[in-house]
Amino acid sequence: MKGIILAGGAGTRLYPISKIYSKQLTLIYDKPLIYYPLSILMLSGIKEILIISNDETIPHYKKLFGDGSHVGLKIEYIVQKAPNGIAESFILGDKFIGKDNVSLILGDNIFYGKLDFIYNAIKNNEGATIFGYRVNDPERYGIVEFDENGKAISLEEKPKVPKSNFAVPGFYVYNNEVVNISKNLKPSARGELEITDVNIEYLKRGKLKVEKIGRGVAWLDTGTPESLLQASNFFGVIEDRQGLKVACIEEIAFYMDFINKEQFEKVISQIPKSLYRDYLEKVLKND
Ligand code: G1P
Repeated sequence: MKGIILAGGAGTRLYPISKIYSKQLTLIYDKPLIYYPLSILMLSGIKEILIISNDETIPHYKKLFGDGSHVGLKIEYIVQKAPNGIAESFILGDKFIGKDNVSLILGDNIFYGKLDFIYNAIKNNEGATIFGYRVNDPERYGIVEFDENGKAISLEEKPKVPKSNFAVPGFYVYNNEVVNISKNLKPSARGELEITDVNIEYLKRGKLKVEKIGRGVAWLDTGTPESLLQASNFFGVIEDRQGLKVACIEEIAFYMDFINKEQFEKVISQIPKSLYRDYLEKVLKND
C-alpha cells in the first residue's frame, strides 16, 4: 500500500496567512499541520509516500522531511500546477502508484483517537473504502447517504440540501483501479476532478465500502482561523495533560520499528536544542 498526501489548495479562507504560507504548514500547537496526516499514514504502516503540492511549497516540505530516510520513509514529491481537484492526485501519482493500492489523505485533515477503522480498512480493502463522520455542517463536505440497513446509496459533493449528516473525511483507501477511474473523470462545475466522482464510480461498480466512524474519534477541521485555534488548543490540552506528543514523526518511526535505536539516536542528535528534542530524549531513555 502506498500513501499520498495532497497538500494543495489555496487556503484563501486563512488570508492573510495564506498569502505567504501554505495552509498545511501552519501551526497546530507545536508542529506544522502536515505532521498530523503524515503520522496517520505512518501509523498505518505506510512507508512509501508521495507529497503533492504547488511549486512554491514543495521546497518547504523537502526542508521538513527530505527523502524521509531519517524516519524510515521513502518520500517523493510532485507539483500540482493548479488546484485541479483531489482526484488529480492519482493521475499525477500514476508512476509512483505503479501497480499498487493507494491511500490518500488530505494534508489538512486531522484524525485523533482510536484509529482502528483506518488500519482495518487498509488491511481489508478490496475496491474502495471511505468513511462517514457525523457533522453539524454537512453542506461543506462530500456527503454520503445510507439506507435503513446502513448501506451507502448515494454520494454528493457539497450539496445545498444534504441527504444526511454524514460527511466523507479526507482519508480514502483504493485499489489500483483508482488511477484509470481518475483518468476518465470530467471536471465538475467548479472545474475540479472531484474525489466524490471517483467514489460514485466505485459505488456504481458495487465496489465501494463506506464505514461509519463512531464516537470517540476526532476528525478536526482546519479551514478557518477559529478551527485552527480549536485544533491547537485540543492538542495542547492532550499533550500537556499526558506528557505525550501527538504526531511526533520521529517517535512514531521508532515505535513502528521503521528505524532502530541507533538511527533514533542519530535523528535526535541532529535536532536543535528544543522542547521537541527534550521530549525525544525522554522517549529514548524510557525505551
Ligand atoms: C474535500 C472533498 C470533500 C471532503 C473534504 C474533507 O473538500 O471535496 O468531499 O468531504 O475534502 O475535508 P474541500 O476541502 O476541497 O472543500
